[in-house]
Amino acid sequence: MDLIRSISSTGYCFRGSRIAIDTSLSVLNRKTGKSEVETKAYMVNNTFMSRYQNFGLGIALLAFAEFPALLFADEAKYQPLPAIEHPADNPWSEEKHQLGKMLFFDPRLSGNNRMSCATCHNPSLGWSDRLPRTLGRDQRELGRNSPSIINSGYFGKQFWDGRADSLEEQALVPIMGPTEMDQNLNKLEEELKAIPDYYRKFKKVFGASGVTAENIAKALATFERSVLSRNAPYDKYQQGDVSSMSNSALRGMKIFFSKGRCNICHGGPLFADNSFHNIGLKPLKGRMPDLGRFKITEKKEDKWSFRTPGLRDITRTAPYMHDGRFKTLEEVIDFFDRGGDPLENKSPLMQPLNLQRQEKADLIQFLKTLDGEFQPVTLPDLPQ
Ligand code: HEC
Ligand code: HEC
Repeated sequence: MDLIRSISSTGYCFRGSRIAIDTSLSVLNRKTGKSEVETKAYMVNNTFMSRYQNFGLGIALLAFAEFPALLFADEAKYQPLPAIEHPADNPWSEEKHQLGKMLFFDPRLSGNNRMSCATCHNPSLGWSDRLPRTLGRDQRELGRNSPSIINSGYFGKQFWDGRADSLEEQALVPIMGPTEMDQNLNKLEEELKAIPDYYRKFKKVFGASGVTAENIAKALATFERSVLSRNAPYDKYQQGDVSSMSNSALRGMKIFFSKGRCNICHGGPLFADNSFHNIGLKPLKGRMPDLGRFKITEKKEDKWSFRTPGLRDITRTAPYMHDGRFKTLEEVIDFFDRGGDPLENKSPLMQPLNLQRQEKADLIQFLKTLDGEFQPVTLPDLPQ
Protein backbone atom coordinates (compact mmCIF):
# COMPACT_ATOMS: atom_id res chain seq x y z
CA MET A 1 0.00 0.00 0.00
CA ASP A 2 3.04 2.24 -0.27
CA LEU A 3 1.79 3.47 -3.59
CA ILE A 4 -1.17 4.98 -1.95
CA ARG A 5 0.88 6.69 0.65
CA SER A 6 3.07 8.18 -1.99
CA ILE A 7 0.26 10.02 -3.70
CA SER A 8 -1.88 10.89 -0.80
CA SER A 9 -0.49 14.38 -0.52
CA THR A 10 -1.93 15.18 -3.92
CA GLY A 11 -5.46 14.36 -2.93
CA TYR A 12 -6.91 11.30 -4.52
CA CYS A 13 -8.27 10.28 -7.79
CA PHE A 14 -11.02 8.11 -8.97
CA ARG A 15 -11.78 5.84 -11.84
CA GLY A 16 -13.35 8.19 -14.34
CA SER A 17 -12.10 11.65 -14.82
CA ARG A 18 -13.41 13.91 -12.17
CA ILE A 19 -13.95 13.99 -8.47
CA ALA A 20 -14.97 16.79 -6.20
CA ILE A 21 -14.56 16.70 -2.48
CA ASP A 22 -14.45 19.66 -0.23
CA THR A 23 -13.68 18.19 3.13
CA SER A 24 -10.37 17.40 4.69
CA LEU A 25 -9.50 13.84 4.01
CA SER A 26 -6.98 11.29 4.92
CA VAL A 27 -5.99 8.15 3.19
CA LEU A 28 -6.28 4.93 5.04
CA ASN A 29 -3.85 2.09 4.82
CA ARG A 30 -6.02 -0.86 4.00
CA LYS A 31 -3.72 -3.32 5.74
CA THR A 32 -3.24 -1.59 9.05
CA GLY A 33 -6.57 0.26 9.11
CA LYS A 34 -4.78 3.44 10.17
CA SER A 35 -4.94 6.72 8.40
CA GLU A 36 -1.59 7.62 7.06
CA VAL A 37 -1.61 11.06 5.64
CA GLU A 38 -3.99 13.88 5.91
CA THR A 39 -4.68 15.84 2.85
CA LYS A 40 -6.93 18.53 1.61
CA ALA A 41 -9.01 17.28 -1.26
CA TYR A 42 -9.40 19.17 -4.49
CA MET A 43 -11.55 19.33 -7.48
CA VAL A 44 -9.57 16.91 -9.57
CA ASN A 45 -10.04 16.86 -13.26
CA ASN A 46 -8.16 15.58 -16.21
CA THR A 47 -5.73 18.47 -16.29
CA PHE A 48 -4.92 18.01 -12.67
CA MET A 49 -4.35 14.33 -13.12
CA SER A 50 -2.21 14.62 -16.17
CA ARG A 51 -0.09 17.18 -14.37
CA TYR A 52 0.68 14.66 -11.70
CA GLN A 53 1.08 11.90 -14.20
CA ASN A 54 3.79 14.05 -15.70
CA PHE A 55 5.50 14.00 -12.36
CA GLY A 56 5.78 10.25 -12.69
CA LEU A 57 2.88 9.49 -10.44
CA GLY A 58 0.80 8.07 -13.24
CA ILE A 59 1.26 4.49 -12.25
CA ALA A 60 0.45 5.25 -8.67
CA LEU A 61 -2.64 7.14 -9.66
CA LEU A 62 -3.79 4.38 -11.93
CA ALA A 63 -3.18 1.77 -9.27
CA PHE A 64 -5.09 3.88 -6.83
CA ALA A 65 -7.91 4.34 -9.27
CA GLU A 66 -8.41 0.60 -9.18
CA PHE A 67 -9.30 0.85 -5.52
CA PRO A 68 -12.10 3.37 -5.28
CA ALA A 69 -13.07 1.77 -1.99
CA LEU A 70 -9.92 3.24 -0.53
CA LEU A 71 -11.39 6.70 -0.37
CA PHE A 72 -11.39 7.20 3.34
CA ALA A 73 -11.98 10.25 5.42
CA ASP A 74 -10.95 10.00 8.98
CA GLU A 75 -14.00 9.87 11.19
CA ALA A 76 -11.77 10.98 14.03
CA LYS A 77 -11.61 14.38 12.38
CA TYR A 78 -14.76 15.44 14.09
CA GLN A 79 -16.07 18.97 13.80
CA PRO A 80 -19.17 20.00 15.71
CA LEU A 81 -21.65 22.24 13.95
CA PRO A 82 -20.41 25.81 14.27
CA ALA A 83 -22.56 28.57 15.74
CA ILE A 84 -25.15 29.72 13.25
CA GLU A 85 -24.38 32.95 11.43
CA HIS A 86 -26.92 35.66 10.80
CA PRO A 87 -26.41 37.85 7.73
CA ALA A 88 -25.24 41.43 8.32
CA ASP A 89 -28.42 42.85 6.80
CA ASN A 90 -30.63 40.68 8.98
CA PRO A 91 -29.06 40.43 12.42
CA TRP A 92 -30.62 38.33 15.16
CA SER A 93 -32.77 39.77 17.90
CA GLU A 94 -34.99 37.90 20.33
CA GLU A 95 -38.04 39.94 19.29
CA LYS A 96 -37.44 39.28 15.60
CA HIS A 97 -37.05 35.60 16.33
CA GLN A 98 -40.36 35.53 18.23
CA LEU A 99 -42.10 37.45 15.46
CA GLY A 100 -40.72 35.02 12.87
CA LYS A 101 -42.01 32.11 14.92
CA MET A 102 -45.52 33.59 14.96
CA LEU A 103 -45.43 34.11 11.23
CA PHE A 104 -44.19 30.57 10.66
CA PHE A 105 -47.20 29.10 12.46
CA ASP A 106 -49.76 31.62 11.19
CA PRO A 107 -52.17 30.36 8.50
CA ARG A 108 -53.12 33.96 7.73
CA LEU A 109 -49.97 34.07 5.60
CA SER A 110 -51.84 32.03 2.98
CA GLY A 111 -54.46 33.25 0.57
CA ASN A 112 -57.29 31.24 2.08
CA ASN A 113 -55.94 31.54 5.66
CA ARG A 114 -55.75 27.78 5.99
CA MET A 115 -52.12 26.95 5.41
CA SER A 116 -49.05 27.97 7.39
CA CYS A 117 -45.40 27.14 6.84
CA ALA A 118 -45.85 24.58 9.61
CA THR A 119 -48.51 22.74 7.62
CA CYS A 120 -45.68 21.32 5.53
CA HIS A 121 -42.83 21.89 7.99
CA ASN A 122 -44.40 20.51 11.14
CA PRO A 123 -42.11 20.35 14.18
CA SER A 124 -43.77 17.16 15.41
CA LEU A 125 -43.00 15.53 12.05
CA GLY A 126 -39.32 16.48 11.99
CA TRP A 127 -40.20 19.92 10.55
CA SER A 128 -41.49 18.16 7.46
CA ASP A 129 -44.82 16.48 6.68
CA ARG A 130 -44.13 12.74 6.37
CA LEU A 131 -45.56 12.69 2.86
CA PRO A 132 -43.65 11.48 -0.18
CA ARG A 133 -44.67 14.63 -2.06
CA THR A 134 -46.24 17.52 -0.28
CA LEU A 135 -49.87 18.52 -0.60
CA GLY A 136 -50.38 22.06 -1.80
CA ARG A 137 -53.45 24.22 -2.04
CA ASP A 138 -56.70 22.26 -2.14
CA GLN A 139 -54.75 19.20 -0.97
CA ARG A 140 -53.30 18.68 -4.41
CA GLU A 141 -50.09 16.68 -4.57
CA LEU A 142 -47.07 18.69 -5.70
CA GLY A 143 -43.93 17.38 -7.34
CA ARG A 144 -41.47 17.30 -4.47
CA ASN A 145 -40.93 16.13 -0.94
CA SER A 146 -41.10 18.79 1.74
CA PRO A 147 -37.61 18.92 3.25
CA SER A 148 -37.08 19.41 6.94
CA ILE A 149 -36.04 22.95 7.78
CA ILE A 150 -33.73 21.63 10.49
CA ASN A 151 -30.29 23.17 10.01
CA SER A 152 -31.49 24.97 6.87
CA GLY A 153 -29.68 28.05 8.21
CA TYR A 154 -26.39 26.32 7.40
CA PHE A 155 -27.15 25.79 3.74
CA GLY A 156 -26.11 28.40 1.22
CA LYS A 157 -28.59 27.39 -1.42
CA GLN A 158 -32.15 26.48 -0.54
CA PHE A 159 -34.52 23.98 -2.18
CA TRP A 160 -33.69 20.59 -3.66
CA ASP A 161 -32.43 22.38 -6.76
CA GLY A 162 -30.80 25.30 -4.91
CA ARG A 163 -32.88 27.92 -6.66
CA ALA A 164 -32.91 30.36 -3.69
CA ASP A 165 -29.69 31.83 -2.38
CA SER A 166 -30.81 32.49 1.18
CA LEU A 167 -33.58 31.77 3.64
CA GLU A 168 -34.78 35.35 3.15
CA GLU A 169 -35.11 34.74 -0.58
CA GLN A 170 -36.70 31.35 -0.02
CA ALA A 171 -39.45 32.46 2.37
CA LEU A 172 -41.62 34.41 -0.07
CA VAL A 173 -41.64 31.63 -2.68
CA PRO A 174 -44.20 29.34 -0.97
CA ILE A 175 -46.27 32.34 0.17
CA MET A 176 -46.72 33.56 -3.41
CA GLY A 177 -46.80 30.14 -5.07
CA PRO A 178 -50.23 29.62 -6.63
CA THR A 179 -50.11 25.89 -5.85
CA GLU A 180 -48.93 26.49 -2.30
CA MET A 181 -50.03 29.37 -0.04
CA ASP A 182 -51.30 31.37 -3.02
CA GLN A 183 -51.05 34.78 -1.39
CA ASN A 184 -50.70 38.20 -2.93
CA LEU A 185 -47.89 40.03 -1.12
CA ASN A 186 -49.58 43.47 -1.17
CA LYS A 187 -52.70 41.93 0.26
CA LEU A 188 -50.68 40.12 2.89
CA GLU A 189 -49.03 43.36 3.99
CA GLU A 190 -52.46 45.01 4.30
CA GLU A 191 -53.85 42.06 6.19
CA LEU A 192 -51.04 42.00 8.74
CA LYS A 193 -51.00 45.78 9.17
CA ALA A 194 -54.65 45.56 10.14
CA ILE A 195 -53.79 43.24 13.03
CA PRO A 196 -52.76 45.69 15.79
CA ASP A 197 -50.41 43.27 17.53
CA TYR A 198 -48.51 42.52 14.31
CA TYR A 199 -48.44 46.22 13.40
CA ARG A 200 -46.80 47.06 16.73
CA LYS A 201 -44.37 44.15 16.66
CA PHE A 202 -43.13 44.89 13.12
CA LYS A 203 -42.59 48.57 14.07
CA LYS A 204 -40.67 47.54 17.15
CA VAL A 205 -38.43 45.08 15.30
CA PHE A 206 -37.97 46.86 11.97
CA GLY A 207 -38.60 50.51 12.79
CA ALA A 208 -40.27 52.77 10.26
CA SER A 209 -40.55 50.18 7.47
CA GLY A 210 -42.91 48.07 9.60
CA VAL A 211 -44.95 45.40 7.86
CA THR A 212 -43.39 44.69 4.47
CA ALA A 213 -42.95 41.48 2.52
CA GLU A 214 -39.20 41.86 2.89
CA ASN A 215 -39.49 42.14 6.67
CA ILE A 216 -41.83 39.14 6.81
CA ALA A 217 -39.13 37.15 5.00
CA LYS A 218 -36.43 38.46 7.35
CA ALA A 219 -38.36 37.49 10.47
CA LEU A 220 -39.15 34.03 9.09
CA ALA A 221 -35.50 33.47 8.20
CA THR A 222 -34.37 34.57 11.66
CA PHE A 223 -36.72 32.07 13.25
CA GLU A 224 -35.61 29.28 10.90
CA ARG A 225 -31.98 29.88 11.86
CA SER A 226 -32.92 28.75 15.37
CA VAL A 227 -34.24 25.37 14.22
CA LEU A 228 -31.14 23.29 14.77
CA SER A 229 -30.24 19.70 15.41
CA ARG A 230 -27.84 19.46 18.32
CA ASN A 231 -26.24 16.99 20.69
CA ALA A 232 -26.80 13.81 18.75
CA PRO A 233 -25.36 10.61 20.25
CA TYR A 234 -22.70 10.89 17.55
CA ASP A 235 -21.66 14.33 18.86
CA LYS A 236 -21.65 13.05 22.42
CA TYR A 237 -19.50 10.11 21.40
CA GLN A 238 -17.03 12.39 19.66
CA GLN A 239 -16.92 14.59 22.74
CA GLY A 240 -15.94 11.68 24.93
CA ASP A 241 -19.14 9.93 25.99
CA VAL A 242 -18.21 6.56 24.52
CA SER A 243 -21.36 4.92 25.85
CA SER A 244 -23.56 6.95 23.50
CA MET A 245 -22.91 4.72 20.48
CA SER A 246 -23.44 0.98 20.25
CA ASN A 247 -20.86 -1.32 18.70
CA SER A 248 -23.10 -1.71 15.69
CA ALA A 249 -23.31 2.09 15.27
CA LEU A 250 -19.52 2.32 15.58
CA ARG A 251 -19.07 -0.27 12.87
CA GLY A 252 -21.63 1.66 10.81
CA MET A 253 -19.60 4.84 11.31
CA LYS A 254 -16.53 3.14 9.84
CA ILE A 255 -18.54 1.99 6.87
CA PHE A 256 -20.00 5.47 6.37
CA PHE A 257 -16.50 6.92 6.14
CA SER A 258 -14.89 4.06 4.24
CA LYS A 259 -16.45 1.22 2.30
CA GLY A 260 -19.82 3.00 2.02
CA ARG A 261 -18.13 6.22 0.88
CA CYS A 262 -21.11 8.20 2.08
CA ASN A 263 -18.87 10.97 3.37
CA ILE A 264 -17.77 11.84 -0.16
CA CYS A 265 -21.02 13.76 -0.49
CA HIS A 266 -22.33 13.70 3.08
CA GLY A 267 -19.17 15.06 4.71
CA GLY A 268 -18.54 17.67 7.38
CA PRO A 269 -20.59 18.55 10.42
CA LEU A 270 -23.83 18.89 8.41
CA PHE A 271 -23.32 15.57 6.65
CA ALA A 272 -23.85 17.46 3.41
CA ASP A 273 -21.50 19.15 0.99
CA ASN A 274 -23.70 22.07 -0.08
CA SER A 275 -23.40 20.71 -3.59
CA PHE A 276 -25.46 18.93 -6.24
CA HIS A 277 -25.17 15.39 -7.59
CA ASN A 278 -26.94 13.09 -9.97
CA ILE A 279 -27.08 9.93 -7.90
CA GLY A 280 -29.08 7.95 -10.47
CA LEU A 281 -32.67 8.15 -9.31
CA LYS A 282 -34.51 6.97 -12.39
CA PRO A 283 -37.67 8.93 -13.23
CA LEU A 284 -40.76 7.56 -11.51
CA LYS A 285 -43.37 5.96 -13.73
CA GLY A 286 -46.37 8.13 -14.39
CA ARG A 287 -44.78 11.32 -13.07
CA MET A 288 -43.31 14.32 -14.85
CA PRO A 289 -39.54 13.82 -15.03
CA ASP A 290 -37.79 16.24 -12.63
CA LEU A 291 -34.49 17.46 -14.03
CA GLY A 292 -33.52 19.14 -10.76
CA ARG A 293 -30.63 21.58 -10.84
CA PHE A 294 -30.67 21.61 -14.64
CA LYS A 295 -33.83 23.71 -14.64
CA ILE A 296 -31.94 26.47 -12.85
CA THR A 297 -28.55 26.38 -14.55
CA GLU A 298 -29.50 24.78 -17.89
CA LYS A 299 -26.12 23.09 -17.85
CA LYS A 300 -26.12 19.61 -19.29
CA GLU A 301 -24.02 18.26 -16.43
CA ASP A 302 -26.67 19.36 -13.93
CA LYS A 303 -29.36 17.13 -15.42
CA TRP A 304 -31.02 15.02 -12.69
CA SER A 305 -28.86 16.64 -9.99
CA PHE A 306 -30.20 17.57 -6.59
CA ARG A 307 -28.68 19.13 -3.51
CA THR A 308 -27.17 16.70 -1.04
CA PRO A 309 -29.44 16.74 2.00
CA GLY A 310 -27.98 16.86 5.49
CA LEU A 311 -28.32 13.64 7.46
CA ARG A 312 -28.88 15.02 10.94
CA ASP A 313 -32.29 14.02 12.35
CA ILE A 314 -32.66 11.77 9.35
CA THR A 315 -34.83 9.11 11.05
CA ARG A 316 -37.45 11.78 11.75
CA THR A 317 -37.86 12.93 8.16
CA ALA A 318 -38.96 9.90 6.13
CA PRO A 319 -39.87 9.39 3.35
CA TYR A 320 -36.64 10.16 1.53
CA MET A 321 -35.28 11.83 -1.61
CA HIS A 322 -36.61 14.85 -3.52
CA ASP A 323 -39.66 12.85 -4.56
CA GLY A 324 -40.08 10.83 -1.37
CA ARG A 325 -39.70 7.55 -3.26
CA PHE A 326 -38.05 5.63 -0.42
CA LYS A 327 -40.09 4.94 2.67
CA THR A 328 -37.28 3.67 4.85
CA LEU A 329 -33.57 4.05 5.41
CA GLU A 330 -33.24 0.38 4.45
CA GLU A 331 -34.51 1.24 0.97
CA VAL A 332 -32.10 4.18 0.78
CA ILE A 333 -29.14 2.00 1.73
CA ASP A 334 -30.11 -0.66 -0.82
CA PHE A 335 -30.20 2.07 -3.45
CA PHE A 336 -26.70 3.32 -2.62
CA ASP A 337 -25.46 -0.26 -2.29
CA ARG A 338 -26.37 -0.96 -5.91
CA GLY A 339 -24.62 2.26 -6.94
CA GLY A 340 -27.88 3.96 -7.86
CA ASP A 341 -30.05 3.16 -10.86
CA PRO A 342 -28.85 3.46 -14.46
CA LEU A 343 -29.35 7.05 -15.58
CA GLU A 344 -27.64 9.30 -18.13
CA ASN A 345 -24.98 11.51 -16.67
CA LYS A 346 -24.90 9.70 -13.32
CA SER A 347 -22.13 10.85 -10.99
CA PRO A 348 -19.03 8.66 -11.23
CA LEU A 349 -18.96 8.86 -7.45
CA MET A 350 -21.86 6.42 -7.43
CA GLN A 351 -20.46 2.89 -7.49
CA PRO A 352 -21.79 -0.45 -6.26
CA LEU A 353 -20.68 -0.98 -2.68
CA ASN A 354 -21.25 -4.70 -2.12
CA LEU A 355 -22.29 -4.22 1.48
CA GLN A 356 -23.10 -7.30 3.51
CA ARG A 357 -26.40 -7.53 5.37
CA GLN A 358 -24.77 -6.79 8.70
CA GLU A 359 -22.93 -3.82 7.21
CA LYS A 360 -26.19 -2.32 6.01
CA ALA A 361 -27.75 -2.80 9.43
CA ASP A 362 -24.70 -1.18 11.04
CA LEU A 363 -24.88 1.78 8.69
CA ILE A 364 -28.48 2.37 9.73
CA GLN A 365 -27.54 2.17 13.39
CA PHE A 366 -24.96 4.85 12.72
CA LEU A 367 -27.47 7.09 10.91
CA LYS A 368 -29.72 6.81 13.96
CA THR A 369 -26.99 8.32 16.11
CA LEU A 370 -27.26 11.53 14.04
CA ASP A 371 -30.65 12.35 15.51
CA GLY A 372 -30.31 15.42 17.70
CA GLU A 373 -31.74 15.78 21.17
CA PHE A 374 -35.49 16.06 21.11
CA GLN A 375 -36.52 19.68 21.49
CA PRO A 376 -40.13 20.35 22.38
CA VAL A 377 -41.65 23.32 20.56
CA THR A 378 -44.25 25.51 22.20
CA LEU A 379 -46.67 26.98 19.74
CA PRO A 380 -46.80 30.79 19.80
CA ASP A 381 -49.91 32.78 20.65
CA LEU A 382 -50.86 34.39 17.38
CA PRO A 383 -51.38 38.16 17.33
CA GLN A 384 -54.96 39.39 17.23
C1 HEC B 1 -47.50 23.19 0.68
C2 HEC B 1 -46.42 22.80 1.53
C3 HEC B 1 -45.41 23.85 1.91
C4 HEC B 1 -45.64 25.05 2.54
C5 HEC B 1 -46.96 25.65 2.94
C6 HEC B 1 -44.33 25.63 2.77
N1 HEC B 1 -43.35 24.81 2.30
FE1 HEC B 1 -41.41 25.08 2.50
N2 HEC B 1 -41.06 23.56 1.22
C7 HEC B 1 -42.02 22.73 0.71
C8 HEC B 1 -41.45 21.92 -0.34
C9 HEC B 1 -42.17 20.86 -1.17
C10 HEC B 1 -40.11 22.32 -0.45
C11 HEC B 1 -39.10 21.81 -1.47
C12 HEC B 1 -39.42 22.46 -2.80
C13 HEC B 1 -38.32 22.37 -3.80
O1 HEC B 1 -37.20 22.01 -3.47
O2 HEC B 1 -38.59 22.67 -4.97
C14 HEC B 1 -39.89 23.35 0.57
C15 HEC B 1 -38.66 23.93 0.83
C16 HEC B 1 -38.46 24.81 1.88
C17 HEC B 1 -37.18 25.25 2.34
C18 HEC B 1 -35.84 24.81 1.80
C19 HEC B 1 -35.24 23.78 2.69
C20 HEC B 1 -34.03 23.13 2.09
O3 HEC B 1 -33.40 22.34 2.78
O4 HEC B 1 -33.72 23.37 0.93
C21 HEC B 1 -37.38 26.12 3.38
C22 HEC B 1 -36.33 26.83 4.20
C23 HEC B 1 -38.81 26.25 3.53
N3 HEC B 1 -39.44 25.41 2.60
C24 HEC B 1 -39.43 27.11 4.40
C25 HEC B 1 -40.77 27.41 4.30
C26 HEC B 1 -41.40 28.59 4.90
C27 HEC B 1 -40.68 29.67 5.70
C28 HEC B 1 -42.72 28.52 4.61
C29 HEC B 1 -43.81 29.51 4.95
C30 HEC B 1 -43.63 30.84 4.45
C31 HEC B 1 -42.91 27.30 3.83
N4 HEC B 1 -41.72 26.69 3.64
C32 HEC B 1 -44.14 26.84 3.38
C33 HEC B 1 -43.33 22.67 1.12
C34 HEC B 1 -43.98 23.73 1.74
C1 HEC C 1 -22.50 11.15 -5.02
C2 HEC C 1 -22.92 11.80 -3.80
C3 HEC C 1 -23.57 10.94 -2.74
C4 HEC C 1 -23.11 9.80 -2.13
C5 HEC C 1 -21.82 9.06 -2.39
C6 HEC C 1 -24.10 9.43 -1.14
N1 HEC C 1 -25.12 10.33 -1.16
FE1 HEC C 1 -26.79 10.25 -0.03
N2 HEC C 1 -27.62 11.67 -1.18
C7 HEC C 1 -26.99 12.42 -2.14
C8 HEC C 1 -27.94 13.28 -2.81
C9 HEC C 1 -27.63 14.27 -3.92
C10 HEC C 1 -29.19 13.00 -2.23
C11 HEC C 1 -30.53 13.62 -2.62
C12 HEC C 1 -30.94 13.06 -3.96
C13 HEC C 1 -32.34 13.40 -4.40
O1 HEC C 1 -33.26 13.48 -3.59
O2 HEC C 1 -32.49 13.57 -5.62
C14 HEC C 1 -28.94 12.01 -1.18
C15 HEC C 1 -29.91 11.50 -0.35
C16 HEC C 1 -29.65 10.70 0.76
C17 HEC C 1 -30.62 10.37 1.79
C18 HEC C 1 -32.04 10.87 1.86
C19 HEC C 1 -32.09 12.18 2.60
C20 HEC C 1 -33.42 12.87 2.60
O3 HEC C 1 -33.59 13.79 3.41
O4 HEC C 1 -34.29 12.53 1.79
C21 HEC C 1 -29.97 9.58 2.70
C22 HEC C 1 -30.55 8.99 3.96
C23 HEC C 1 -28.62 9.40 2.21
N3 HEC C 1 -28.46 10.10 1.03
C24 HEC C 1 -27.66 8.62 2.84
C25 HEC C 1 -26.49 8.23 2.21
C26 HEC C 1 -25.65 7.16 2.66
C27 HEC C 1 -25.88 6.35 3.91
C28 HEC C 1 -24.63 7.05 1.77
C29 HEC C 1 -23.53 6.03 1.74
C30 HEC C 1 -23.97 4.66 1.61
C31 HEC C 1 -24.84 8.08 0.76
N4 HEC C 1 -25.97 8.76 1.05
C32 HEC C 1 -23.98 8.32 -0.31
C33 HEC C 1 -25.66 12.34 -2.45
C34 HEC C 1 -24.84 11.26 -2.12
